[in-house]
Amino acid sequence: AVPAGWAVSWHPGYPSMHSKWRDMLLGTNRSVLFFGNRGFLGFRSLYLDEYRDRLFIGGKDVLYSLLLDGASMDAKEIYWPPLPGQTEECFQKGKDPGTDCANYIRVLHPYNRTHLLACGTGAFHPVCAFVYVGHRGEVGHLDPTSVETGRGRCPHEPSRAFASTIIGGELYAGLTADFLGHDPGIFRSTGTRSALRTEVDQRLLNDPKFVAAHLIPDNNDRDNDKAYFFFTEKVVEADSKEHTIVSRVARVCVNDAGGQRVLVNKWSTFNKARLVCSIPGPGGIDTHFDELEDVFLLRTKDGKSPEIYALFSTISHVFQGSAVCVYRMADIREVFNGPFAHQESPHHRWGAYESRVPYPRPGVCPSKTTNQPRRQYGTTKDFPDEVLHFARAHPLMYKVVYPRHRRPLLVKTDLPHRLRQLVVDRVEAEDGQHDVLFLGTDAGSVLKVVVLQKTSLAMTEEVILEELQVFKAPVPITQMEISVKRQTLYVGSSLGVAQVRLHQCETYGTACAECCLARDPYCAWDGTACTRYQPSGKRRYRRQDVRHSNPVHQCLDQNLTGESVEEKVLYGAEDNSTFLECVPRSPQASVQWFVQRPPDEQRDEVKTDERILQTEHGLLFRKLHRHDAGVYYCKTLEHGFTQTVAKTALEVIASEQLAHTFSQERGDEALRLPCPRPWLAPQAPKTWFKDIMHLISSQNVRRVEEYCARLWCGSSRPHHHKSKLAQAKHALAGVDVGKKGRTTKAHSEKNRVPRQAVAT
Ligand SMILES: *[C@@H]1O[C@H](CO)[C@@H](O)[C@H](O)[C@H]1NC(C)=O
Ligand SMILES: *[C@@H]1O[C@H](CO)[C@@H](O)[C@H](O)[C@H]1NC(C)=O
Ligand SMILES: *[C@@H]1O[C@H](CO)[C@@H](O)[C@H](O)[C@H]1NC(C)=O
Ligand SMILES: *[C@@H]1O[C@H](CO)[C@@H](O)[C@H](O)[C@H]1NC(C)=O
Repeated sequence: AVPAGWAVSWHPGYPSMHSKWRDMLLGTNRSVLFFGNRGFLGFRSLYLDEYRDRLFIGGKDVLYSLLLDGASMDAKEIYWPPLPGQTEECFQKGKDPGTDCANYIRVLHPYNRTHLLACGTGAFHPVCAFVYVGHRGEVGHLDPTSVETGRGRCPHEPSRAFASTIIGGELYAGLTADFLGHDPGIFRSTGTRSALRTEVDQRLLNDPKFVAAHLIPDNNDRDNDKAYFFFTEKVVEADSKEHTIVSRVARVCVNDAGGQRVLVNKWSTFNKARLVCSIPGPGGIDTHFDELEDVFLLRTKDGKSPEIYALFSTISHVFQGSAVCVYRMADIREVFNGPFAHQESPHHRWGAYESRVPYPRPGVCPSKTTNQPRRQYGTTKDFPDEVLHFARAHPLMYKVVYPRHRRPLLVKTDLPHRLRQLVVDRVEAEDGQHDVLFLGTDAGSVLKVVVLQKTSLAMTEEVILEELQVFKAPVPITQMEISVKRQTLYVGSSLGVAQVRLHQCETYGTACAECCLARDPYCAWDGTACTRYQPSGKRRYRRQDVRHSNPVHQCLDQNLTGESVEEKVLYGAEDNSTFLECVPRSPQASVQWFVQRPPDEQRDEVKTDERILQTEHGLLFRKLHRHDAGVYYCKTLEHGFTQTVAKTALEVIASEQLAHTFSQERGDEALRLPCPRPWLAPQAPKTWFKDIMHLISSQNVRRVEEYCARLWCGSSRPHHHKSKLAQAKHALAGVDVGKKGRTTKAHSEKNRVPRQAVAT
């Protein structure tokens, strides 16, 4: 069924979006673009087309094409539901018509200069079709004559993990290719080469969960091109009892044609190896991160040696954590060139195969090297049966692939959420290159992290630069795409797709030191503001020190603290609780509180105890004493740089003072209420009474109003209208409301607390 108000189009004429969507699409903030609403979009796939400047989004029964130039909003959609008979059958086979029996578009790849290949689950009847997108994405229609079965190209299930990539007009896909999800394989289809798949054999693939597929060429000889698959699978090797699942990298030759008599229409060059990502644990037993969550290839210019960033999590119930390991192609190739894993019989241990390996060595692609005058192996169909038999019996390499420096780049065990997605941006900063990691959680947020190498290679320091709450609801982030060109990150979840800027330098504050302490490699102080660092920039006052963040050194001639801290005034009732707010701009900073009490000018450090608590967000007085009155300074310390972040004058209203006021009759002229101390009066904002309002939460609004007016020396009549007082009654915060405007601003500047995107 088509949702009400939705413009349906099958082939010609793609109407503009429903107005409701348009509002959500552009949102009110340019920094966050929101697309989709709860349960409707059914987001499953994303293809960022930098050339056409479009984002193609695969949803539930719909494929969207979105122009990324925000100024001229343009979105098209292609409605592509399953055939009615298929929906019916899906329903009858016991699948949920609401969630399963639709066409979830999961495969979305550029195919050639004019077409995309799109495949959907088709209500458990996978379908594929070519979608015309023109040279500039101008039209966008699905070629009805190209619709064909998507079996072996797209999973049946709307949410099961799979991976695919297009190489030379062929789709390479790792997935389970049947209704029940029992037939896993790596498949090649679509183009002119022969269709191939892996044999159904647990030694090859044992309940795999595919994560990524990529073409990584070996050298300039295209005949050596290989497709790599990253996945987890169950272990069959007998002697690795402690690992029920492991992560793998597997590869096949792009020019594999299968065997002639053995392995007909099956891969003859398939090999796999284990990816290890572990940290030393107690008692010499390593803690392994075995569950592969995501893989990101940081491509190099030649394309042959990308750095492989892999995100893992533990499967242990005892220890929860995530880790990022980085693998080098040289190490992966070395393992594939090393010994094969071998087992004499099911009773023997696995070992390295040490006898003669037949020629051409299994896993080697037919190329100039194998096609010599005396040994003509122009295609895998020419390979001797002996080679194919050996390949079939030895899919696994004996050695394992270790990450760079043999340890994770990043380990996170203290996070409340699991990390699910990873993209990496290599950023040019003044002190060299830095890799910034964007990590999507299962709770709708994205962490932006930079990992800094310390002087010794074995030491790293990670800095969480930002935590962006992209979706209000705690949904898992399912896909992220980075546009270096647009300096934007596109984040997908079941609720939709959001757009987030890679950097928001201006949020780091208005002082050189703050910009420096942020240690964001994207940002630098240009003499007047914290702005995007341009490596080639000619601007002079560049101050940036990502590695050490020493503001004293970097900002010597600059104003260290930026705007001077304004004094806030806070009134607290004696014996009541009160709260002095102070959140450091940087989570790495340590906070110290000082107090200056009126008679002596000396500043003392605030002594905390069970009555006065120092919390993450400020200083909490559980029970205010008269002698607590004074000026409080919140100072942060980071890398030897101290900064006063907040200055609050705390005024304590004695309990008899309050009691006295309420005992007074209305209209009594003989008031003898003390004035606030003179040193407070000039700054005292006129709305301070709201503080008292919520503190005493009196039922008698008029009395409070009166009390406030009296306490506010120099004013005998209430300043504020009833409505305001009524509002004040609902004021919640125990913090200084008087300078609300400024407090709020400070909040939005901080940005270390989750940034809120448009609600879902
Ligand atoms: C959204 O836009 C408004 C108005 O331009 C701005 O005040 C607010 O800070 C923005 N919010 C975010 C999260 O960027
Ligand atoms: C792209 O592929 C489609 C589907 O095979 C085909 O119809 C179209 O002509 C191709 N376009 C180009 C420019 O090769
Ligand atoms: C430092 O601050 C003062 C006053 O706030 C201002 O006049 C001056 O221009 C600032 N200097 C720099 C280098 O920003
Ligand atoms: C706060 O002050 C009000 C009014 O003086 C009083 O009734 C209330 O008990 C106090 N609350 C605490 C927690 O001391």
